[in-house]
Amino acid sequence: MQAFGMKAAYIAQTGSPIEIRQLEKPSPGKDEVLIKVGFAALNHRDLWILKGKYAGRKENIVPGSDGAGTVEAVGEGVSAEWIGKQVIIYPGLNWGPDPAVQSSDFHILGNPTNGTLAEYIAVPVDNVFALPDHLSLTEGAAIPLSGLTAYRACFTRGNLKTGENVLITGIGGGTVLFAFQFARALDARVYVTSGSQEKMERARSMGAVGGALYTAPYWAEEIAGKSGGIDLVIDSAAGKDFGMLAGLMNPGGRIVNFGQTAGPIGEIPARYLFWKQLSVLGTTMGNRDDFEGMLQFYSEKKLKPVIDQVFPLEEIQAAFDRMDQARQFGKIVVRI
Ligand SMILES: NC(=O)c1ccc[n+]([C@@H]2O[C@H](COP(=O)([O-])OP(=O)(O)OC[C@H]3O[C@@H](n4cnc5c(N)ncnc54)[C@H](OP(=O)(O)O)[C@@H]3O)[C@@H](O)[C@H]2O)c1
Repeated sequence: MQAFGMKAAYIAQTGSPIEIRQLEKPSPGKDEVLIKVGFAALNHRDLWILKGKYAGRKENIVPGSDGAGTVEAVGEGVSAEWIGKQVIIYPGLNWGPDPAVQSSDFHILGNPTNGTLAEYIAVPVDNVFALPDHLSLTEGAAIPLSGLTAYRACFTRGNLKTGENVLITGIGGGTVLFAFQFARALDARVYVTSGSQEKMERARSMGAVGGALYTAPYWAEEIAGKSGGIDLVIDSAAGKDFGMLAGLMNPGGRIVNFGQTAGPIGEIPARYLFWKQLSVLGTTMGNRDDFEGMLQFYSEKKLKPVIDQVFPLEEIQAAFDRMDQARQFGKIVVRI
C-alpha cells in the first residue's frame, strides 16, 4: 500500500470481477485540475468494459465516465481560484474542431484514460464546470454522460420543439430518462416503451401520456393509435423492431439513435422513409458546447436527475450486477 495512494475500482482483466485497489494518487499536469471525487455513476459502457465486450483497453483500467467532486489542487497555468470549488466533469477528450462530428482521437474518461471510479482524478481544466447551484454532488455525478448524450440527441440532432409528440424507447434506461426530462420540460407529449409494466407506470407518474410494452407484438400500432403520430423518437435500443418506428412517425419526423442494446437493426420499410420525408439520425455523446448547453438547460429548468440507488465504492460489484440485471430505474451512483 502506498503512503499517498488512493482507492479505486479496478479492472485488472476484463471478464473478471471488479476489484478495489490502492493506486497512486494522480497529480495535476499543465492546464489540469486534481479533483477529489465525491460521487461517480455507472453507464452501460462500464459494464461492457468490465465484461470485455468493449473495444479498447482490456486490462488495468479504472472505469467510470461520470463524476462530480471538489477541486483539490491545480496544475501549471490554472487559476488557484478553482481550489475548493465543487465541479462536474465533462467526460469527453479530444472532440476536435468539427462540431458536427468527433475526431478519431475522441474518447471519454474510463477507457483508455482512467476514469472517475477513484478517489482522485486529474483532468484538463476545460473539462470542469461549476456544479449548478440547485444540485448536490450526488445529483451532479449522475448527469454527465447521459445528460450530454440525451441533450445532443434531443436538441443538437433531434431539434426537439415545444409541444411535439415524442416517443422514448426503453424508458428504464439511464440515458433516455434524461431525454424524457428534456422533452417534458418543453411540454412535449411523451410516449414510452419498456419491457416492464412497472417502469412504464413509473414513467406515467412522471408525466408520460402513454406507452406500450415493446415485448407485445403490436406495440408500434399501439403507440401510433394512442399518439396519432410521433414527431421525434429518441432510441438507444435499435434491434429488429427498429424499422417499425418508421410506420408510426408523422410526416417530417426524426428518429434519433445512439445505441443498440437490442442488437442490429431489422428491415426499415423504405416507403415510409421517403414518402414521409423522415430523417434517421445517429448521435454520439457530445462536445463541450453540448455539455455547457445541457448544464444551462438543467439550471434554467431546475431539473434533477433520476437516481436509482447509491452504492458505496466497496459495493461496486453489486452496483454493476444491478445494471447487468436491468433492475435500475435511473442512474446508479457510487459514493467514493
Ligand atoms: N452513443 C453514445 O454516445 C451513447 C451514450 C450513452 C449510451 N449509449 C448506448 O445507449 C444504450 C443504453 O445505455 P444506458 O447506459 O442508458 O443503459 P441502461 O441504463 O442499462 O439501459 C438499457 C435499457 O435498454 C432498454 N431496452 C432493452 N431492450 C430493449 C428493446 N428491445 N427495445 C427498447 N428498449 C430496450 C431497457 O429498457 P426497459 O428497462 O424500459 O425495458 C433498458 O433499461 C446502450 O446501448 C449504450 O451503449 C450510447
